[in-house]
Amino acid sequence: MADEVRKLVAQYFQFFDPPQLDLPPGDVLLRPVVQEALHERMFDESLTPLPPAAYRTRVLKLIVARIEEAIKDPEEDELNDNLMDALGVLVAQPKPSALELAQQLSHVKYTAPLQSPPTSDREVTTIESRGLILSGGTTGNRTWEAALHLGSFLASPAGESLVRGKRVIELGAGTGFLSLFCARHLGVRGVVSSDREPVLIENMRECVRFNYQGEGPFPFYPAVWDWGTPLEKTEELESFVEGEDLRFDVALGADLIYDTDIIPLLLSTVRDLFENYHVEQFIISATLRNEKTFQTFLDGCENNAFRVEALPFESTTSEEQNGFFHSTSIPIKTYRILKAQ
Ligand SMILES: C[S@@+](CC[C@H](N)C(=O)[O-])C[C@H]1O[C@@H](n2cnc3c(N)ncnc32)[C@H](O)[C@@H]1O
Repeated sequence: MADEVRKLVAQYFQFFDPPQLDLPPGDVLLRPVVQEALHERMFDESLTPLPPAAYRTRVLKLIVARIEEAIKDPEEDELNDNLMDALGVLVAQPKPSALELAQQLSHVKYTAPLQSPPTSDREVTTIESRGLILSGGTTGNRTWEAALHLGSFLASPAGESLVRGKRVIELGAGTGFLSLFCARHLGVRGVVSSDREPVLIENMRECVRFNYQGEGPFPFYPAVWDWGTPLEKTEELESFVEGEDLRFDVALGADLIYDTDIIPLLLSTVRDLFENYHVEQFIISATLRNEKTFQTFLDGCENNAFRVEALPFESTTSEEQNGFFHSTSIPIKTYRILKAQ
């Protein structure tokens, strides 16, 4: 029961399309203790942040319908009062327009794949707008599959060992998902979460309070950085300065190779990181939507005499995933790029 509820809760906070949620079977949902757990962990209004009301309504209607279907003996089987009250409150709320829905910024909570042996869940909260994917020319308003794939790798012991104790910089970080995971759970010395879009950097700053309530500094530094320009040595980035220079050990990137036009700039940025920011390796994950685009990137690495290693990490199939859920219908690969020797 615990695993089934955990998975449903994790998918819900990651805003799974309701028909694709893994609902526990009817006999499990009928159990009073399960219904109470669903209310407490998904619909209790005191939970923060909660998904938007329209989404909660859709999911709760689905759960209630599944419970009602499973009821065989109305004398014995019951629908939890708290769930019914929550549904009553939700359906009474005014419905947002399609435009309001599209513009809505939401907090999305991602739960990492379970460790072995299982420990407490590792979660990351971002601010996203799924409806604004292409607004203002940015694709960074949502977290992409390649980031969830790379996050799953970093959640493994082999992945964690690449960043633990390290100074990390992420390029084109979008929602900041990977950097937040590194800062919150992977013991990095510090991570600069960079993107060229100031609005994304503002969102990243805003979501710190949902990821860190501890004392002392959170080692997460959002920074506007447009490739091809110098990374500004702001006061905030002071902890990455050594001597005169900003200095990092590892760079990360997810889903940055979607357009051949940006590949030369990306490659010169990687060279810049190796030559001027002391970066030793660049870990990049890519969704292979177009073989030719990706080959252009690999050819560019060869022209720069970078060493390219494919990391032997495969995403678990969607059905088997228990965290950082993502589609695997298009292959995703992760590479380690090292500078020329
Ligand atoms: C497809 S999104 C990937 C976002 C995130 N890495 C993920 O996988 O969820 C590409 C990101 O790269 C950023 N980007 C594109 N060109 C850039 C450039 N020249 N300088 C800095 N960031 C750039 C975009 O703003 C966007 O956030």
